[in-house]
Amino acid sequence: MKITDALLGEHGINYILFSHTRDTVDNSHVLQGISNSVSVLGHVLMDHVQVEDDLLFPKLEPYLGQIGPLAVMRMEHHGPEDLLEKSKNETDVRTLKFILTEFLDLRYSHFRKEEMLLFCMAQQILDKQKLIELGQQWADSRDVTIDGHGCLGAA
Ligand SMILES: [Fe+2]
Ligand SMILES: [Fe+2]
Repeated sequence: MKITDALLGEHGINYILFSHTRDTVDNSHVLQGISNSVSVLGHVLMDHVQVEDDLLFPKLEPYLGQIGPLAVMRMEHHGPEDLLEKSKNETDVRTLKFILTEFLDLRYSHFRKEEMLLFCMAQQILDKQKLIELGQQWADSRDVTIDGHGCLGAA
């Protein structure tokens, strides 16, 4: 499995959490309930960002350099963390909702950019073997078994 396929799967899980969190932000008026839904999303999201930063982005850097789309993606990884931190100390529900709506919008647009641009570039830049090797590193880091019975190699 290519690492880009694994990361797209993680996007799918994150979208479920985005949707759940947005629903809670839109409909709940209870500060604690809203904070709890963001807490889970924050952990999953930061783990996703970390794996992209550690496994994929360094392999693209020799081709894309430190400016351009890769630099934008890196900046977007860590910029919204400030909003998340701000949300942890917020005690006003309306302000919290405003902060989290902005946070979710930024995360959503970042994910779409990766899907439309960066992951496509990765598949053009890195050969299939490298993408599969990185996919195995992703599986090891997530404790996921892929091709446990060698079925993927079967005709
Ligand atoms: Fe990302
Ligand atoms: Fe991503």
